[in-house]
Amino acid sequence: MSATADVPKKIPAHIPPELVWDRSFDEFTAEGDDPFLAITRMHDLPPVIWATDASYGRPGWVATRHDVISEIFIDHEHFSGEREGMPASMLGVPLRLNPIEIDPPEHHGHRRNLNPVFTPKAMNAMGESVSRTCRELIVKFADKGGCEFIHDFAIPFPTYVFLDVMDMPRAMAGDFLEWEDTLMRGADPAERGGAARSIFKYLEKHKEGQMDQPTNDLNRAITTAMFHDRDLTHIEKMGMYYVLYVGGLDTVYSTLGWVMRHLATHPDLQERLRDNPEDIPAAVEEFARAFSVVVTHRQLRDDYTFHGIPMKQGEEINLPISLADRDPAVFDNPHEVDIDRKSRHINFGTGVHSCLGIHLAKREIRTVIEEFLASFRNIRIKDGETYRYHTGRTFGLEYLPLVWV
Ligand code: HEM
Repeated sequence: MSATADVPKKIPAHIPPELVWDRSFDEFTAEGDDPFLAITRMHDLPPVIWATDASYGRPGWVATRHDVISEIFIDHEHFSGEREGMPASMLGVPLRLNPIEIDPPEHHGHRRNLNPVFTPKAMNAMGESVSRTCRELIVKFADKGGCEFIHDFAIPFPTYVFLDVMDMPRAMAGDFLEWEDTLMRGADPAERGGAARSIFKYLEKHKEGQMDQPTNDLNRAITTAMFHDRDLTHIEKMGMYYVLYVGGLDTVYSTLGWVMRHLATHPDLQERLRDNPEDIPAAVEEFARAFSVVVTHRQLRDDYTFHGIPMKQGEEINLPISLADRDPAVFDNPHEVDIDRKSRHINFGTGVHSCLGIHLAKREIRTVIEEFLASFRNIRIKDGETYRYHTGRTFGLEYLPLVWV
């Protein structure tokens, strides 16, 4: 923590000096070879701090504990999700990701259109198709003795699942992967904006094609969606298509990377799960806790004093979920991956905005573990190689070279 004398001038006057953390969140969390160990050094700080660089150079609050993060998730009166999100600012259209960028009480009237399509039952019905997709990708490298897990598998897999869920042609996979790569990982803002527009244009064309005769339940739910007694507008429906695109790709790919890195460095767990596949759902829960990849945020609806801290309207408060899910006040030995623990993680958020795609995401992760363990023995990181990762809004691996027998 910086002392009062060190506080740079750019810090607003209402911020208590003892809460100023004069660091870059992204750089701090990327120190060392494990960002989950790096970020949890923030447990030594107060429960809420003011970071001079909380996200991409922007200052803001950061909540560092499970209880405070959970409290902010459910306090819609003071903490709003209705910010202009990344797609709107890049697209130059008033697109609101629907329903994540809509606060209660309106939120429920939008979300209820999508809930029936994402129930556990509906996702179970997709199980075979998810497994098939997984096997289609595995077969491409199955006889090579290894793969670069991130590009050969973790990135394309959720994209293929997304195309299937949307009933979009597989031929679009190449374009989607390129757009996604540029949008999520591109360095040039102009190129990222171009990718955001290409995605929007394609989703818009798809939506128009679905309006008269939707080809599956999800497209029907979106194209016929109502808010109470009125039809949703074109742009509100586009907000639904777009949220599914941005919500379900990076999150799944990032999680899969950490799951596979863990399995590749824990042969005993590979054996246990191969011999006892009934333990895989518990492993998925524990992986979700230990590798909570999302850093989400809210903004102050009005001036508000939170736990004695004066906050101003419009300020951003960042919620790194890994700080909640590795909080030693809630989890014994939080850095240990123990699939026998009863986990009360909030990896998928909590409250009304909790993840719509949770059952699909868990199905995807479970299927990947099942299929890899059934196909390969002794999966490990290639000798002499190491993995690479990034931090930021999601913590994701960029490179993971695997070998097996
Ligand atoms: C491991 C994978 C995933 C993780 C870790 C994850 C995490 C989250 C989190 C933390 C939230 C709450 C964000 C907040 O309140 O600010 C959320 C919301 C959401 N997620 Fe996921 N997600 C995953 C997969 C998916 C998938 C596959 C889909 C799409 C099918 C999806 C769609 C959504 C949507 C639409 C919301 C907004 C819900 C609302 O506002 O009511 N997610 N997710």
